[in-house]
Amino acid sequence: MIQNQERYIIICYSTSEMLKADGLLRSMEIKTELVPTPSEFGEICSTSIAISGEDRDFALKLLIEHPLGYKEIHRYQSRKMEGLIRSLKTNRITALFREIIGKIEQGKTPTKGEITYLLKTENQGEIEAIFNAADRMRKEIVGDVVEIRGAIEFSNYCRKSCNYCGIRKGCEETQRYRMSQEEILAEVHKLHAMGLKTVILQSGEDDYYTAEMLVKIIKRIKIETGMKITLSIGELSREQYQTLREAGANHFLLKIETTNREIFNFIHPDDDFDHRVQCQKWLRELGYVNGSGNMIGLPGQRPEDIAEDILYFKEMGIHMIGIGPFIPAKGTPFETCARGSVDMTLRAVAVTRLICKNVFLPATTALASIDPDGQSKALKAGANTIMLISTPMKYRSNYQIYSNKNMIDLASAFKAVEDAGRKLPKYLNIIPEEAV
Ligand code: 5AD
Repeated sequence: MIQNQERYIIICYSTSEMLKADGLLRSMEIKTELVPTPSEFGEICSTSIAISGEDRDFALKLLIEHPLGYKEIHRYQSRKMEGLIRSLKTNRITALFREIIGKIEQGKTPTKGEITYLLKTENQGEIEAIFNAADRMRKEIVGDVVEIRGAIEFSNYCRKSCNYCGIRKGCEETQRYRMSQEEILAEVHKLHAMGLKTVILQSGEDDYYTAEMLVKIIKRIKIETGMKITLSIGELSREQYQTLREAGANHFLLKIETTNREIFNFIHPDDDFDHRVQCQKWLRELGYVNGSGNMIGLPGQRPEDIAEDILYFKEMGIHMIGIGPFIPAKGTPFETCARGSVDMTLRAVAVTRLICKNVFLPATTALASIDPDGQSKALKAGANTIMLISTPMKYRSNYQIYSNKNMIDLASAFKAVEDAGRKLPKYLNIIPEEAV
């Protein structure tokens, strides 16, 4: 038996990949043990490989050298959320609520109906308990540091006409721009100088940037800064995703927006729900760290749909989940629709933390755009990441995917972190005073 305190655990994308990885490690005389995947790592593969701490570096090298679908390697500590139930004020909660939290405490996944209950309950004692439990879960599993990432919105051209989106094709309110390779690199260098470790390259679905052009940009970022790269550029072919992955892109953010297929098809006239899911699966197979997310308050959306979204994130092993309110954008077919509520968005963030556990949950820009304290509220509800908008000033105002989009800069990020009583990452080269 491998000693518990020095155990590492390797999580793979499927049972067959896991067995291949296990065979490889054993053939190199690494002692392995197959263990149930702890519930905080999602449901991507129910069995994982445990190895001893001494073998970690060698095992990692082998896994990287062989193209195996391994997802993550982690120090394994048993983190039972004991006391979640004990901390509840029992006079204010129902038996059903107690049972649901009990399941979460034991590492079981509640049903869609139970998750819906958490999203819908109006019992004040239960609402408080949900936020407290999510905050505890966040602290226990991802700690107090708020990850800071920089996003460069490098083009607002888009070939699609999503009904909610302010940069949809044909939206006349929008002045279009594209950033050159040099302009993108200049912004990346600014983020690198601040000490940031990850840059997000986001755009509309713009065919102008071919995979070859993006490969050049990715390679330059890698060589010149070594930063991790998240792409958020929509639906591409499997080959294109593969080319970009091989060039060095690490993460891919492709939101599902909603798992209710009628709503999905209604809001995305150019898209097909099953194809979107297929893209997400390709990304997973290609070894990207997968990001997704949804909008809260879409026309016709019910709490049941949000519960289904959360189960989708869990089942797909999604690692970054951006949850934001729907905000009507000028010049779009949804211009006069009601916007999503701050309360429901925060509730969805908290419940997602409780169900998906070990994930990156950004305090989204959309939330900050409709509530000046939205980001610190999200950080207190289970979120642990902030994205700085690092698009050059002259372009920023044109990336209005929704109206009155807030511009998250370092000063506002620091304020949210401070208001939430949390910590800035040590890798930042800049101290808060300089940023204000
Ligand atoms: N309201 C809220 N979020 C929006 N997005 C796009 N348009 C809107 C809107 N009107 C979000 C979507 C998209 C991301 C880039 O921005 O979730 O994936």
